[in-house]
Amino acid sequence: MFKSFKQYLTELKCAGTIDAELSLLLEAVASLSKDINDKVRHGELVGVLGTAGTDNIQGEQQKKLDVISNEIFVNGVQWTGSIAGMASEEMDHCLPTPQQFQRGQYLIMFDPLDGSSNIDINAPIGTIFSITRAPATVDEVTDESFLNKGREQVAAGYIMYSPQTILTLTVGEGVDMFTLNNNTGEYLQTRSKVTIAPQTQEFAINMSNQRHWEAPVQRYVGELLAGKTGPIGKDFNMRWVAAMVAEVHRVLCRGGIFMYPKDNRDPSKPGKLRLMYEANPMAFLIEQAGGVATNGHENILDIQPEKLHQRVAVFLGAKEEVERVTAYHKN
Ligand code: AHG
Ligand code: MN
Ligand code: MN
Repeated sequence: MFKSFKQYLTELKCAGTIDAELSLLLEAVASLSKDINDKVRHGELVGVLGTAGTDNIQGEQQKKLDVISNEIFVNGVQWTGSIAGMASEEMDHCLPTPQQFQRGQYLIMFDPLDGSSNIDINAPIGTIFSITRAPATVDEVTDESFLNKGREQVAAGYIMYSPQTILTLTVGEGVDMFTLNNNTGEYLQTRSKVTIAPQTQEFAINMSNQRHWEAPVQRYVGELLAGKTGPIGKDFNMRWVAAMVAEVHRVLCRGGIFMYPKDNRDPSKPGKLRLMYEANPMAFLIEQAGGVATNGHENILDIQPEKLHQRVAVFLGAKEEVERVTAYHKN
């Protein structure tokens, strides 16, 4: 018998690990993800493929599904009474909880649709979320209210839409996974306390950017490619799904190291991934599973954010390999 997500949350609430507001918020996220899942599953049939014809604040072309998923997320959490505000990859600024709804004690940040370039080719995509406490002292939250270190997250997770729809969650007590039963519409717990092995023979990086990387990454990936004959002394396999959700899911399920380093293409963009709603929630999950996540210099969760949409270099996964590439940055 699999445990339902509802029962899981109720047990956490009874144990005092989460309060009623957080439980309701997590239930709302699970529920709205079924609506996104429904659009994803039907694609062309419900007219959700293709571009929206607009750009987001980061200058990226929005896909129809980016915009639709953002709307579903906003509508799915704003009524709960659990949040003081939210922030999204697809919104220029944060959205304080609208007047007509009760304000709660949490903030939620999200990437409503991760892996946008995979939408139209029916490849894995996902939704990422990060939850922190709202500042108790301000009347209305602003972008600054969200600029807390990843260490302060109280919950984080993702939903991966692929052959199976899987919700992965941490509330700071390990990482658990729930598979959606598409017939009953219920998430059921299928993995508990997932751990990442410290060693690996699998890496993920977009090799097409190689000429733009800095020296430490050139050195490290060179050593991975040298395999048995190089200084690491073992052969590596490579994967690239082009959706962080899918890369992190693979690392959580069978280990590995995932990298999206800083490169020299555009000095205003120190990396591609965004700290607040991509790197931080994933780093929280990875650490909770016994892995490590750094930007090459410091732990992702210890970075003091300066801007809502700031980008960051990411090295995450198997402890031994992340520590190796991080050490190369110090030399
Ligand atoms: P998003 O679709 O939310 O903008 O994020 C895409 C990100 C991330 O999920 C993935 O790891 C990376 O971009 C893929 O980048 P490449 O285009 O370099 O493959
Ligand atoms: Mn993303
Ligand atoms: Mn996105």
